[in-house]
Amino acid sequence: MKVRAGMMRWWCKMSDPILEFNNVDIEYQTRGDNAVHAVNDATFTIDEHDYFGLVGESGCGKSTIADAIVGGLDDNGEISSGTIRYKGTEIQNYSESQFNKEIRWKEISVIPQSSMNSLDPVMKLSQQAVEIAKYHTDLSKAEAIDRLRELFDVVGLSESRIHDYPHQFSGGMQQRAIIAFSLFLQPSLIIADEPTTALDVIMQDQILDHINSLKEEWEISMLMITHDISVVFENCDTMAVMHGGQIAEAGNVVDLFDRPRHPYAILLQNAFPDVRYPDRELAVIEGHPPQLREKPDFCTFADRCPWSIAECYEGAPDPQSVEGDEDHQAWCIRANEMDELAADHLTKPAEGRSILEDIQ
Ligand SMILES: Nc1ncnc2c1ncn2[C@@H]1O[C@H](COP(=O)(O)OP(=O)(O)OP(=O)(O)O)[C@@H](O)[C@H]1O
Ligand SMILES: [Mg+2]
Repeated sequence: MKVRAGMMRWWCKMSDPILEFNNVDIEYQTRGDNAVHAVNDATFTIDEHDYFGLVGESGCGKSTIADAIVGGLDDNGEISSGTIRYKGTEIQNYSESQFNKEIRWKEISVIPQSSMNSLDPVMKLSQQAVEIAKYHTDLSKAEAIDRLRELFDVVGLSESRIHDYPHQFSGGMQQRAIIAFSLFLQPSLIIADEPTTALDVIMQDQILDHINSLKEEWEISMLMITHDISVVFENCDTMAVMHGGQIAEAGNVVDLFDRPRHPYAILLQNAFPDVRYPDRELAVIEGHPPQLREKPDFCTFADRCPWSIAECYEGAPDPQSVEGDEDHQAWCIRANEMDELAADHLTKPAEGRSILEDIQ
């Protein structure tokens, strides 16, 4: 496993927050009186120039969080409580036109989950750049095309291809083109929702390398959404783990790798291959998350948790600081007992050294 620059920087980082999610609830109305309570009481912070990974199983609410940040929830979705602050300003009540004018592209751009379909199939890529520039900037046509040319170079695409149509590109090339477009207006934050899921393993690595190289050169922040915890460990500085519409654990990647304290994070880590133990059987996390027809007033992992007790059903868990560290929190009432309870599942780091360092 490769350990990137982020890990070297985590200990000396003192940045302002760029995005603050505070106690956010998001609901989708469905037919009849039913609602889906997709995200409940979610709290996390992304610091400037941070790569932040959001990881969790399918349906846990990751894309809902991404959509809410840019005002892109489906029509039946709404933020029903909590605040989302971007560079200190509350944006959760912005109208669509405010989002389009002030936030999208120039402050926050999105590499969407189904990004293969997000390029306009009937327009050349250069024309698409001109359209974005026309709406959001006062760049001339020639300047817009020049900028796209430069960005093609950044993401490793040949500049000679800027007048191609999307269908003339392979999947990996389209994905790089999307990354180029996401940089077009020099945003401060990029949200990458499963940026590599549809690609083969070699292409995944190349795309992640490109995403990583932006960190130093562009000084952007990144919210990287994935169901693959190893992608987060390799590419991000800080992270949150989600399940069943709740944040389970948040902190810097080294702390979460060395000392996971939420049972879901512990089991998730055990479910991925580890180069140190190639013969280890992967853990399977049994069972299904609950249907969230009402706002859950219990831990949504309790039914599947080997260590749950009656109290886990008596209220949604409040965050616990792990070993007194405010930056590492687990939403589990037993978080600080996990060292003993889950001893069989946990590998202890050597004194003063991260396990991540040992396996690079
Ligand atoms: N428009 C909608 N109407 C009703 N329910 C929705 C809507 N969009 C999403 N949901 C539900 O909200 C929950 C969270 O969905 P979301 O797409 O955010 O999950 P996810 O973590 O991104 O999953 P995946 O990893 O599969 O992309 C799921 O139960 C999903 O079925
Ligand atoms: Mg999703």
